[in-house]
Amino acid sequence: MDKIKIAVLCSGGGTNFQAIVNAQEAGLIPHGEIVLVVTDSKTAHVLERAARHGIETAVFDRAEYPREAREKAIFDRLGESGTELVVLAGFMTVLSPRFVKAYENRMINIHPALLPSFGGLGMYGLHVHEAALARGVKVTGATVHYVTEACDGGPIIAQRAVEVREGDTPETLQKRVMREAEWVILPEAVETVCLKLFNERRKAE
Ligand code: GAR
Repeated sequence: MDKIKIAVLCSGGGTNFQAIVNAQEAGLIPHGEIVLVVTDSKTAHVLERAARHGIETAVFDRAEYPREAREKAIFDRLGESGTELVVLAGFMTVLSPRFVKAYENRMINIHPALLPSFGGLGMYGLHVHEAALARGVKVTGATVHYVTEACDGGPIIAQRAVEVREGDTPETLQKRVMREAEWVILPEAVETVCLKLFNERRKAE
């Protein structure tokens, strides 16, 4: 039976996308296949990464598409590609409730903290690590969760803790959280959800 078709949405560097591709190429995502990378930035480094692996890309640049038109274009493109699972991997556009509803239980997000701490609107990228350091937490980490209307509030699929060290800056902490947590749990969660969707599809057939 066909693998679950995955689209990865990403706004920047794409290291999490890379982690998923690496896992896929190592045979660790047997029930899924990345068919498309979507970005909202025409300068996103993820475009080069995708090209290197022969993965199709679609760009809907924030400067060229107003928010609603951009979301509609992304939605239509995902539909054309037959996407069954959407992975938000550093995607900096908050999606509307309508979009979220359309991919209910079929859209997941990686967040660079142990939710429910340091989540919600405005908590993205380095801001998350700045907030964690400002609060003085000794342990942080990453979370993969289903996307629901509540920003960063959906059911949790996977988490991994990372130690905060004396002298950490937001940048050093971000790197450690990525290396020790995000790049580990995201590919694992992708396979977990693909297997679930794969089994659901088999039952329905
Ligand atoms: C990652 O740290 C990801 O967890 C974070 O953006 C970074 C993207 O890096 N996402 C959020 O903050 C979402 N709220 P990448 O493009 O190298 O994967």
